[in-house]
Amino acid sequence: MKIVVIGAQWGDEGKGKIVDYLANEAQIIVRFSGGANAGHTIVIGGEEYALHLIPSGVFYPDKIVILGAGMVIDPVALFSELEMLNGRGIDTTGRVFISDRAHIVLPRYIQIDKERDAARKKPIGTTGRGIGITYSMKSDRDGIRIADLGWKEKMDELEAVDREFLVPYIDRLKKMSIDLSSYLVHHRNSQVLFEGAQGTLLDLDLGTYPYVSSGMSNAAGAAIGGCIGPRAIDKVLGVFKAYSTRVGNGPLPTEFDGDTEEGAGTESVLDNFVRNTGREFGVTTGRPRRCGYLDLVSLRYACLTNSIDSLVMTHLDVYDTLDEIKACIAYKAGGRIIENFPASVEDLNNAKPVLRSFSGWKKKLSGALTYEEFPVQAMEYIEFIERYCETPIGIVSVGYDRKETIIRKRPWSK
Ligand code: IMP
Ligand code: MG
Repeated sequence: MKIVVIGAQWGDEGKGKIVDYLANEAQIIVRFSGGANAGHTIVIGGEEYALHLIPSGVFYPDKIVILGAGMVIDPVALFSELEMLNGRGIDTTGRVFISDRAHIVLPRYIQIDKERDAARKKPIGTTGRGIGITYSMKSDRDGIRIADLGWKEKMDELEAVDREFLVPYIDRLKKMSIDLSSYLVHHRNSQVLFEGAQGTLLDLDLGTYPYVSSGMSNAAGAAIGGCIGPRAIDKVLGVFKAYSTRVGNGPLPTEFDGDTEEGAGTESVLDNFVRNTGREFGVTTGRPRRCGYLDLVSLRYACLTNSIDSLVMTHLDVYDTLDEIKACIAYKAGGRIIENFPASVEDLNNAKPVLRSFSGWKKKLSGALTYEEFPVQAMEYIEFIERYCETPIGIVSVGYDRKETIIRKRPWSK
């Protein structure tokens, strides 16, 4: 069976924890997009780990983890991550591979990324990891892939600084390189988990362009970046938080209250509360994340554009102490009600959320072992989202630990 896990918002939905959880029953975990711009926090037995490039499944000693063709790999970041893991007792020998079609991030691209974003009239607020430049070089057909390393003609074409940078990495990268498509055909009976990075609203095509990343973070990207056909995918899981967050610039329609005339345009009361309770600070850059109410307009859009079979809700415990919870069920802009997620950044910037109110449960959710033990108010919130999105919520996460995960429908079943 092949399962794809993607982010259904602006990244940081808690995919790392869910992939780690699902990896238990997988043999192979393939990350299909992005690069060291991503940041996953995983807590295992009280120990906290931050990963940027290597799939979260690496913590199981018997799993194969693969960096897919849709990724952009910074060798410095990759080897420092491997060193960190090995230093903390996680043996990665012989089980971390890279698709030979993956592109390489050069130090020069990182520099250009930072300079270009700073020079923009309205910076995107990139993570400064050279991601957009590497994908541009790839699109412009001037990129360098793992498969090209050591090929004399290609190496001669490179600028001297780039060549000098790459030479010490060639053997190490080559040793990890595989033909991913043949590898997966050979392991056709394995359970494979395809791990996305960022989220639907940061996808280059489907996201809030130009305030997006440059990779394919949607489910279709799993087919291309994972070197399989789209029909080989059995199931798509979309991870979302009980609220919305965003790092960097660009529209976040539920960041501001919009339900009352007085409230319109004021920062949501939720912002500081959620940031501190949910520890909403970037793993890669340390930047405070912008926080807002759950945006169901964009969540439904994510369900449709990714063919999400089942949603995974995370961080619901952040709401444990609130009297009232709100979620956005439509946008209001210039007297119009908008129910479909617009492409136009101008529309999104003008959109005021139409908020629906729910009662809080005022109880610690992490005490529950099954969904049936949840307070009725939490169930009402969850089941409203399911009806709105016409998609079931199969897993609810109520804490950072592996144990704090409520399974309503077993993911590795058809
Ligand atoms: P880039 O991917 O570094 O080019 O950044 C483009 C935009 O995507 C910026 O707003 C980043 O903050 C955002 N971004 C990139 N990767 C992630 C991620 O893993 N989580 C959340 N936001 C991200
Ligand atoms: Mg993250």
